[in-house]
Amino acid sequence: MGLEAAPCFVCLESVAATVKLILEFLLALQKRSELPGRIKAAIHSVVVEPSAEMIEEFKTSVSPLPQSLAGVADVSFEWHEMTFQKFRECFPQKESLFDMIHFVASLLYMDAETVLSYCYQKLAGGGAMFCTVVPEESFFTKMSRKLHNKVDLGSAQKIYTEVDLVNIARKNNWNYEELWKVHNQIDITSCFDHSSLEGTILLDFLVFQRDFRVTAGKTFYKEVMDFLNQESSTCDNGRKLIESEIAAVVIYKEQ
Ligand SMILES: C[S@@+](CC[C@H](N)C(=O)[O-])C[C@H]1O[C@@H](n2cnc3c(N)ncnc32)[C@H](O)[C@@H]1O
Repeated sequence: MGLEAAPCFVCLESVAATVKLILEFLLALQKRSELPGRIKAAIHSVVVEPSAEMIEEFKTSVSPLPQSLAGVADVSFEWHEMTFQKFRECFPQKESLFDMIHFVASLLYMDAETVLSYCYQKLAGGGAMFCTVVPEESFFTKMSRKLHNKVDLGSAQKIYTEVDLVNIARKNNWNYEELWKVHNQIDITSCFDHSSLEGTILLDFLVFQRDFRVTAGKTFYKEVMDFLNQESSTCDNGRKLIESEIAAVVIYKEQ
């Protein structure tokens, strides 16, 4: 991604709300553009997101762009309120290539190998695909194994891990790098309080279901609650916490 020659970065974002990532990217550009001889870059982001609410949130977050960043690059956005699968069907073959494509916590809604193979073809030489998934031994991966074949995961197809992505990259002979793992904690105390609305919503989020307390069979509900209890640690103040982790994998295309 040289900045000396007419720099135009095209980003394909598979979901909304990755504003932070885009702003970080702009900040990196800002640092480079402060060097003598650099010229202003142009960044065009193509956002693909089926949720109108998320698109609105994303638009609000980037409008206006922070003043310090707006001066660094000509930034433009293109919004597609549709699933990535639909976007693939509609996107004309002759469209330009992308320098960066990111899937932040969104590959689970797609067949990862099909989508990444399509995107790899759409990557410019020297471009990269940035993907975040859950680590192989993390809470959400274990939970998805527990739920497998027992509940309908809705539009989520598979909880991919960094091992899945590395396997896809190796199978296709793509260069890749496992970047980092981020650890954070989720307080799930309210899930054990049947009268808590917050707990009901959080539980639904953890099991990818709506109204899990009502719709789950008694035995399976108990199994899931026992699993949550076993996976959580209890603090001195009695709060129950689970460790939730995110892993990042980058796939590169050679120049
Ligand atoms: C876990 S959220 C992540 C959102 C955002 N990347 C972030 O980090 O805040 C997953 C997002 O994927 C979107 N999504 C669901 N199915 C999708 C699909 N088939 N194609 C593209 N995005 C999809 C959802 O609407 C949701 O905004």
